[in-house]
Amino acid sequence: MTPRISDKMYAWRAFARQHAFAMSRKMIELRGFFDSDIGSLTRHANNYNISRYMTSRMPYPYTKKDAKWWVETGSKELGLYLAIDLAGECVGVVGVRFGQLELQYSAEIGYWIAEDYWGKGIGTEAVSKMTDCAFSDNKIVRLAAPVFSPNKASMRVLEKCGYSLEAIHRKAVFKNDAFMDEHVFVKFHS
Ligand SMILES: CC(C)(COP(=O)(O)OP(=O)(O)OC[C@H]1O[C@@H](n2cnc3c(N)ncnc32)[C@H](O)[C@@H]1OP(=O)(O)O)[C@@H](O)C(=O)NCCC(=O)NCCS
Repeated sequence: MTPRISDKMYAWRAFARQHAFAMSRKMIELRGFFDSDIGSLTRHANNYNISRYMTSRMPYPYTKKDAKWWVETGSKELGLYLAIDLAGECVGVVGVRFGQLELQYSAEIGYWIAEDYWGKGIGTEAVSKMTDCAFSDNKIVRLAAPVFSPNKASMRVLEKCGYSLEAIHRKAVFKNDAFMDEHVFVKFHS
């Protein structure tokens, strides 16, 4: 029987809870959000260099009110989103947004890392662990990541995690008064 979306989300959340320790590695741990993350989320996400290649669903400027909504509501309702914890501090977010109906076996991955921590392999580790997590329940078969064309660091992270370029949607994105191509990277559950 085809699983209902709510069943799938429940199973993923249960997986994330049960395997929170197993998902920790030498640098980071992926975990749920706490109220105590609101300060670090606000501090790190309120950065133009983070927002410029993210969907505008993530606001900029990013206020304490935005972080509070994310911790209490957004991170729970929109998919499976986890805090990237480095030595007890939330230094970024990684998550998957579920498709629905005929797209129920597809999901989209998204992520950001605090700028102070770029270039240390944290993005790669977080995307790799979340990819494993998304594929672990044997339901999701396709994970996609839409990347704005100037965002070479993100493309490199995806390549290191085994994603490949599927399509380039020319001038699909208009943000900050400029058109950009959208590069769609994909990985399939084998
Ligand atoms: C994209 C992002 C998540 C990368 O995180 P990170 O922790 O710095 O990533 P890693 O350190 O694991 O890897 C970065 C890789 O990109 C490479 N890189 C960085 N800048 C680059 C550039 N301008 N051109 C090409 N490669 C670049 C690094 O050299 C590294 O590759 P390497 O290990 O082969 O040397 C981070 O820059 C970020 O949060 N950006 C803002 C939000 C965002 O764009 N999110 C993704 C939306 S699709």
